[in-house]
Amino acid sequence: MKQRDSTRPTTDDSHRVPRKALQNDDLSHRPSMNRIKALNASRCSRFALQHLRARRIRYSTFRLPAMHFASDNWAGAHPTIAASLTEHANGYSQPYSDSELDKTVEKRFGEIFERDVAVFYVATGTAANSLALSLVGKPGGIALAHRDAHLVADECGAPEYLSGGQLRLATVDGPEGKIDAKLLRKKVESMAGENVHAGRTNAISITQSTEAGTIYSLDEIDAIASVARDYNLPLHMDGARFANALVSLGCTPAEMTWKRGVDMLSFGATKNGCWCAEAVVLFDKTKLHAENFPYIRKRAAQLFSKSRFISAQFEAYLRDGLWLELARHANGMAAKLAESIIASKSARLVGSPRANEVFVVLSTSFISMAKEKGAVFYNPWPVPKDLEITDDEQLCRFVTSFSTTEEDIKQLTELLQ
Ligand SMILES: Cc1ncc(COP(=O)(O)O)c(C=O)c1O
Repeated sequence: MKQRDSTRPTTDDSHRVPRKALQNDDLSHRPSMNRIKALNASRCSRFALQHLRARRIRYSTFRLPAMHFASDNWAGAHPTIAASLTEHANGYSQPYSDSELDKTVEKRFGEIFERDVAVFYVATGTAANSLALSLVGKPGGIALAHRDAHLVADECGAPEYLSGGQLRLATVDGPEGKIDAKLLRKKVESMAGENVHAGRTNAISITQSTEAGTIYSLDEIDAIASVARDYNLPLHMDGARFANALVSLGCTPAEMTWKRGVDMLSFGATKNGCWCAEAVVLFDKTKLHAENFPYIRKRAAQLFSKSRFISAQFEAYLRDGLWLELARHANGMAAKLAESIIASKSARLVGSPRANEVFVVLSTSFISMAKEKGAVFYNPWPVPKDLEITDDEQLCRFVTSFSTTEEDIKQLTELLQ
């Protein structure tokens, strides 16, 4: 059975904090500092530790998270983000993206991207992708994306639905989860003549970093953008893991987007330490008719009433480079995990991870053993056509996050030996 981020994992939910443990009234069971330190030294993540301290949770009923590699949206929220939410919880503020904080954060996005941008919050990455593409939808319109793109494989037709039927998706192939610019050009050319029966291409979407854990180089983005320019097609980037790609390439946000020809960006922060913070960023407001977006968003029921709370998260996320620091940490953990896999006789690394997703072939017996010992990851992952695996092997996906610890990696490395 295929499993993706948005599907339910096969693991049980015993890692969850039991409801009873969240009750905050029994201070006699408060863990001592020594106990907390001991927990920390063993396998408690920074986040869990913070959580324990803040809520004075009874440690005896708290199943400690360990070896959590299912997805970066399993991780909680970074304490700085959580603190910002609390800080902005007081008082009154204009709703619907009109608060002072909303305006300040929009300006901050402008600084980050080195130009005036339009920023629209939405609740999920799926909404960001769907509404960005809806903005440029035309009757009979077709958006092209990689065949493994989240848009295509994991959004349940949301782009078609939210565009009110203005949009269809068609796929383009390419190795390592990336659109091959030559194949893209051929596809666009083949659809270029007016053909009322076939419809018309009206956007291209790429994912950075990709669903395969790879990254488009700046040259590769250039090649795709050149097709988009030649055929006057808006170029969208699904940046659910934008920060992970950015720190991996070591360039600026502007260099990875509009300076290359990206017109619209789904800027994801939920997976990188926010509680729930996704935004559509439009680079050329005039060209894209950004003035239509508020209406498209409202009709899709994606206009936040208490928008200040999304701004509160972005404000903390983008302050003092926190977002880059968190992404660097997640990528660094993935690199360490990849090293352990390369050194292991029980595992085969697939590709070379560039961001925070690591794909690995494991035997079914190893998978059972690892899960028994508490490792959490997704399997079986769909096998790309160029990967050969035997009947008793599966492709598995491990994702690291801001809250992955050295201890998580160490424990998994020990299993792999
Ligand atoms: C590449 C990519 N794009 C978009 C999304 C959509 O995110 P959401 O689950 O918030 O709709 C995801 C989530 O897994 C993703 O991995």
